Amino acid sequence: MARILITSAIPYINGIKHLGNLVGSQLPADLFARYFRARGHEVMFLCATDEHGTPAELAAAKAGKPVAEYCAEMWAVQKDLSDGFRLSFDHFGRSSSPQNHALTQHFAGRLAEAGLIREVSERQVYSNADGRFLPDRYIEGTCPNCGYERARGDQCENCTKQLDPTDLINPRSAISGSTDLEVRETKHLYLRQSAMKDKLDAWIDSKKDWPVLTTSIAKKWLHDGDGLQDRGITRDLDWGVPVKKGDEDWPGMEGKVFYVWFDAPIEYIACAAEWAEAHGKDDAAWRRWWRTDEGAEDVRYIQFMGKDNVPFHTLSFPATIMGSGEPWKLVDYIKSFNYLNYDGGQFSTSQGRGVFMDQALSILPADYWRWWLLSHAPENSDSEFTWENFQTSVNKDLADVLGNFVSRVTKFCRSKFGEAVPEGGETGERAEALINELETRVRAYEGHMEAMEVRKAAAELRAIWAAGNEYLQSAAPWTVFKEDPDKAAAQIRLALNLIRVYAVLSAPFIPDASAKLMAAMNTDDWTWPGPVAEALQILPSGHAFTVPEVTFKKIADEEREEWAKRFAGTRD
Ligand code: MF3
Ligand code: ZN
Repeated sequence: MARILITSAIPYINGIKHLGNLVGSQLPADLFARYFRARGHEVMFLCATDEHGTPAELAAAKAGKPVAEYCAEMWAVQKDLSDGFRLSFDHFGRSSSPQNHALTQHFAGRLAEAGLIREVSERQVYSNADGRFLPDRYIEGTCPNCGYERARGDQCENCTKQLDPTDLINPRSAISGSTDLEVRETKHLYLRQSAMKDKLDAWIDSKKDWPVLTTSIAKKWLHDGDGLQDRGITRDLDWGVPVKKGDEDWPGMEGKVFYVWFDAPIEYIACAAEWAEAHGKDDAAWRRWWRTDEGAEDVRYIQFMGKDNVPFHTLSFPATIMGSGEPWKLVDYIKSFNYLNYDGGQFSTSQGRGVFMDQALSILPADYWRWWLLSHAPENSDSEFTWENFQTSVNKDLADVLGNFVSRVTKFCRSKFGEAVPEGGETGERAEALINELETRVRAYEGHMEAMEVRKAAAELRAIWAAGNEYLQSAAPWTVFKEDPDKAAAQIRLALNLIRVYAVLSAPFIPDASAKLMAAMNTDDWTWPGPVAEALQILPSGHAFTVPEVTFKKIADEEREEWAKRFAGTRD
């Protein structure tokens, strides 16, 4: 039994996430958390909301709410949706937690002591009316390039030109509209990532088993252009972690907060501390996951994220950890994903294009989405959601293959032998062939899961379901029953046992359906199958069961067409 720490990239607080976000980190992370638990490992699965930064402040302003209140509400919304998708986090934390404030300030203090932070004087726009420095996107004005009057200080939305706030004509504060602006000197902190370049490079080189997607992005940032750059880690915002050196004030940094990308990954650690607090446990309980001097030396740490997050997890966060000089756990494996597109274009949060988590659950149960998303995960390239493909997958894999097997076996048994596992004689050669095939496939499935190959694991699971169906088709107990009821009974006993095995194997992908199948088989024996022949004998003859209601319903053409239309445009 191993100890496995799993984190999913923490979603931004502003707004409900779409299915592309979900399949890029939280959902595959859940798949493996469930799998490793099922294999008897001790798992700590953490996620949280990413609550700081300008997007959070702006979204709160748009909603007309104080940012703390907005974040608390949106956290509850996101928590609810992650429960709806059956994401089995041990804790769903918040990057605005006191634990994250303390840890973020702690790391900054350690980095400063190690000489890895430099103070840089910059000239920045100050708003007299607002009494604060304005981040670039809090300044609006006329674009010097196209004349658009509502261009932002970082970029013109109209012509997409990257801007400097001082480029804007008639600049004004986006907060108050005031034009009483001036340029002042101010200090910011930079993390000296460049000083850690060789260490990071060697560390990445030592990760021979990482996905190419992960290492290629890390290498690009390390070596392209001028190489790894120092990174500003402070911002002029009200909402965030105040800049401090541990518990001490940081002269010249009054009124500033840490940059959201500095504190967000530290929340992975803080989240474990939040978990401990929520469960009335002491500090040792969470530190044994995170401190290699306090028990974490034998922890395997796996991170999940979309490809845009890779530089922060391969370089910046490791720089923070290594630079602290303290024995915090570094990641062992980074599983990254490409993008999921939507019906010939991109998912778009701003345009409301695609299916969002709340909408998905309002039309179909979580398992339908989980199955499609995971079996089409954008692992080796971007992938695309289309309604036709979704309909086909659900109707074939879930309804025709798995659902149909369960329904035929249980109904046939009920009508011929009653609602208990029948006693029977020999099953015959076909059963032996089935068991051999399953033996190979179950071991292959485990192999794909260990290698964290999502699509391959899904394909193997589908093949395992199909093998049962093919067996049933060729063994044809309904025909055998007429001549040799004893043999038919034995075939059905095997098939009923196979339903329990399917529940166990499928649970990481489709936990609700698996629980339903297990309940119908009237057992709570979730033992992972060792030798398949043995696993198929767990339900003894005489063991009562019930016929489950339809496990998966098919998607009709009219539904598919209606949904395609409904989700093409702007969400309301
Ligand atoms: N909120 C970021 C995103 O959605 C991810 C942050 S991951 C962490 O892209 F490491 F910073 F926590
Ligand atoms: Zn412009």
